[in-house]
Amino acid sequence: MKNLESIEKRRTFGIIAHPDAGKTTLTEKLLLFGGAIQTAGAVKNNKIKKAATSDFMEIEKQRGISVATSVMAFEYGGKQVNILDTPGHKDFAEDTYRTLTAVDSVILVIDCANGVESQTEKLMEVCRMRNTPVIIFVNKMDREGKDAFSLLDELEEKLNIHVRPLTWPIGMGDRFKGVYNIYQHNLNLFQASKTKKANDIVSIKDLSDPQLDELVGAAFAEELREEIDIIDGVYDDFDREKYLAGEIAPVFFGSAVNNFGVQELLDTFIEVSPSPIGRESDVRYVEPTEDKFSGFVFKIHANLDPKHRDRIAFLRIVSGKFERNKFYHHVRLNKNFKFANPTSFMAQEKSVIDEAFPGDVIGLYDTGNFKIGDTLTEGENMFYKGIPSFSPEIFMELENLDPMKSKQLDKGIHQLTDEGVAQMFVMQPGNRKIVGTVGMLQFEVIQHRLINEYGANCRFVPKNYFKACWMTTDNKEQLETFIRAKANYIAKDKDDNQVFMAETPFLLTMAQQDYPEITFHTTSEFKLEKTV
Ligand code: G4P
Repeated sequence: MKNLESIEKRRTFGIIAHPDAGKTTLTEKLLLFGGAIQTAGAVKNNKIKKAATSDFMEIEKQRGISVATSVMAFEYGGKQVNILDTPGHKDFAEDTYRTLTAVDSVILVIDCANGVESQTEKLMEVCRMRNTPVIIFVNKMDREGKDAFSLLDELEEKLNIHVRPLTWPIGMGDRFKGVYNIYQHNLNLFQASKTKKANDIVSIKDLSDPQLDELVGAAFAEELREEIDIIDGVYDDFDREKYLAGEIAPVFFGSAVNNFGVQELLDTFIEVSPSPIGRESDVRYVEPTEDKFSGFVFKIHANLDPKHRDRIAFLRIVSGKFERNKFYHHVRLNKNFKFANPTSFMAQEKSVIDEAFPGDVIGLYDTGNFKIGDTLTEGENMFYKGIPSFSPEIFMELENLDPMKSKQLDKGIHQLTDEGVAQMFVMQPGNRKIVGTVGMLQFEVIQHRLINEYGANCRFVPKNYFKACWMTTDNKEQLETFIRAKANYIAKDKDDNQVFMAETPFLLTMAQQDYPEITFHTTSEFKLEKTV
């Protein structure tokens, strides 16, 4: 087995949260603890959510910053930690889903007052589909929030996963005293501090130790003893295997902005989280320890500088060692490419690298050869699975406002959809282009970028489609009959798959009833199918 040491060392994960739960703050604190940055305030990503939707400068800034902070790597406790950034704004949720295919585990941040919010549920659904190991951080314990036991119940119920607290809060809000580390049997007392890293950690091996009463007061000490008793009685012991299988999520409590509970989280994360795991391809499962290099593109940033049509493709390495200037096989194009300037991202610095290992994410400069989901290998013909397209929720028809610029518009919309900003469906009769997204904000972004980067002026006309459905069947004849009957509702996606554009849930149900041998899917990766 090659590269074993480098593989074992790596921890590649993403932080997910409903906007405002504290993802940016926690990311920053992890970087601070990991020594990757020196001062708080250095990471200001995801602030787009606070900008008015029409503030394009902010959008542009966000794109720039999000390249710099797309991957943040640092060394901690003998491990190389790679944090993959996920956009905070819900309109960019699909970007986040794709990033989740490139991580080996996630940390989910919950606001203790708001509990499980809509975006949290959706993101967790994607993690649950792939059995991604999850650690939960309940944030903002310095504010009044929900009772800790109720929160645990809510997490189990809404996220469909078992939980196991590994730290436990003593009080909350104004009465927040600290957290007891159930895993390591010590007590971490709370001091509101936005700058200090170290807290006073007192080791209390036995909860009946009177020192506990002295430190937090008799009432809190008694409450803690009772609650820990309940936890030990109700929750199974923490089982790493179950965590790795995505069946149980360890839970930590703290306050990211006050640097509180972050150290416990990071130390446990380093200890229990998985080193890079393999990935399923269309032909076989690929282990990270295999000799030959392979990887897949999960994100593309185009036209950062409109004067140079440069794009960066983000590639997650699955197996083997990636080397600079070596030829690799681009499976979809059946062509070989070498890369002179592959970059890695250490905190906010980009640097050219000579080699990279499984678990790493590298940036490849690209002149238009990559699409999201492309696979690179040392020659083997295989595709990595698991970059699903979900059916968009909002559909608009693209109308060209300047017939002289139709070529530019065509090029622009294709490049932007390659980048994953939106999905495009081309209606079969008529060649009309329907653009689909999960949020309205993307349409503004697309329109703005088409003008600025391609000089193409367009307008979007709302279409009331309900879902775009991919279709599979063993009965080709039935599919052909269906496609003939519904010709006006059939489009092609970017990979030339036929898609049924259902206008209402009723029409979809009717289609399912009338054509029972066709399965209608709302994600393009049918293995990951969820119900409509
Ligand atoms: P996000 O990336 O998940 O969207 O959240 P972000 O970290 O930007 O945090 C959202 C707000 O919550 C920020 O306040 C942040 O300071 C605050 N916050 C984060 N962690 C804690 C915590 O442990 N306790 C408390 N009380 N607040 C916390 P803001 O006023 O929106 O922004 P800022 O001006 O402070 O940056």
